Amino acid sequence: MATTKITKEQWAVSESYMAKLREDNANFAVRNGHPRLAHTETYGCQQNVNDTERIRGMLAKAGFEFTEEPEKADLIIYNTCAVRENAEQKVFGRLGILKHMKESRPDMIVAVCGCMVQQEHICEKIRKVHDHVDLIFGTHALWRMPELLYRAMTESGAVVDITDSDGSISEDIPILRDKDEKAWVSIMYGCNNFCTYCIVPYVRGRERSRKPEDILNEIRALVANGTTEISLLGQNVNSYGKDLGIDMDFADLLREVNKIDGIRRIRFMTSHPKDLSDKLIYAMRDCDKVCRQLHLPFQAGSDKILKQMNRHYTKAEYLEKIDKVKREIPGIALTTDVIVGFPTETNEDFRETLDVLRYVRFDSIFSFIYSRREGTPAAKLDFVLSDEQIHRNFNELLELQNSICKEKNLEYVGRTETILVDGESKTSKEHMMGRTDSGKIVNFKGSPDMKGKYIDVKITNAKQWSLEGEPV
Ligand code: SAH
Ligand code: SF4
Ligand code: F3S
Repeated sequence: MATTKITKEQWAVSESYMAKLREDNANFAVRNGHPRLAHTETYGCQQNVNDTERIRGMLAKAGFEFTEEPEKADLIIYNTCAVRENAEQKVFGRLGILKHMKESRPDMIVAVCGCMVQQEHICEKIRKVHDHVDLIFGTHALWRMPELLYRAMTESGAVVDITDSDGSISEDIPILRDKDEKAWVSIMYGCNNFCTYCIVPYVRGRERSRKPEDILNEIRALVANGTTEISLLGQNVNSYGKDLGIDMDFADLLREVNKIDGIRRIRFMTSHPKDLSDKLIYAMRDCDKVCRQLHLPFQAGSDKILKQMNRHYTKAEYLEKIDKVKREIPGIALTTDVIVGFPTETNEDFRETLDVLRYVRFDSIFSFIYSRREGTPAAKLDFVLSDEQIHRNFNELLELQNSICKEKNLEYVGRTETILVDGESKTSKEHMMGRTDSGKIVNFKGSPDMKGKYIDVKITNAKQWSLEGEPV
């Protein structure tokens, strides 16, 4: 399916509904003496975080203001994730609590959007069990939100739009980011890989790349607004551009972004090992602003499991790529995703996963227990291991990786690192927190005026998940 943009005429409809909402919100403010307040909650990956920034952009344009407290909100929007069952359970739990809140405040509007509701059976369940939900819209209806919201606020009964992807990209949606110095920039949407355990291709549709000039213009505008760190987002950034029919791939795009004055750091995620080309490794090596960090999910170490997962690489091929990356970019920080307990995984298969961890020595990993997703091929497979054994394996994996993390962090002690200061540390009020080029969290004694600045810090101590330092 060719990727097309939402037309000016289509977007004009959304604009007109934002104007109607704005008028309605102005009247509301006069009547009530305060603006209509919206509260958003985001589950799942950075793609969803970026989508919520668009939702907030549209809401701001429609005259809403925002609150962190759901109790004070006139509109609550949950942007949901479907990747594992626990992500969905959390949202169902939240909706249960809202039912009571809505009984005492019937004017409150409750909306659920994103990946979870793009699945028909979940949408039906919400409609049946949670009839206090006023608006449900899927990932492909994001740009239509102003119209859907207006209808939810003016019509009786729930408004639902979970139509499937039409291969379109909406470039006009305004984005409201909560940070100036760092920004997520989506370069593509969807996924074509169909890993057998994964729901993402079903809820996000096929791969659609944004045009290079749209991406570069967005980044230039961000720089003009003070942004210095960019994270390029896509489910598989290595296949960027394949659907555009142009002579530009992800490595070329990276080199173009690297040329933009004012950018100091470029990060990207996620890379699929099967598509990680030498060309991209060389681009990472050559581009001075591309951070020395690579997230390369391997999922499982056993070739049998990798095949059943439809990952299109073997353990040996993965390790070869890792060797090459380490050779070309010395000192690079490596991170990964791992799934424990894929249905056909045996204890012997699991040993192969541990073997990869010992060989690569990742700086950190995101590990997950396999979660059955309805409609995916793996959902039909029977389990070999018991739940208890899968949990034992998972704990063994965590224990091994914890010791590796600590050892990797200890290598930093004594070094001076440049960090971009994110804000106040979670641990103490007098401490600030920032990240190294390699993505490590550093806590240090500092003051709030350092936020958004690059400062040099001498690393004095290493913890399991973070470093401590002193400004030099
Ligand atoms: N596109 C990215 C990330 C997708 S989702 C990639 O391919 O790397 C993030 C992670 O969630 C995946 O890498 C995988 O490790 C995990 N995941 C996906 N489906 C899962 C499932 N059904 N159960 C457990 N973990 C899952
Ligand atoms: Fe899911 Fe695989 Fe696509 Fe990642 S590459 S989103 S794991 S199907
Ligand atoms: Fe979840 Fe959707 Fe991202 S399923 S991981 S929020 S693409």
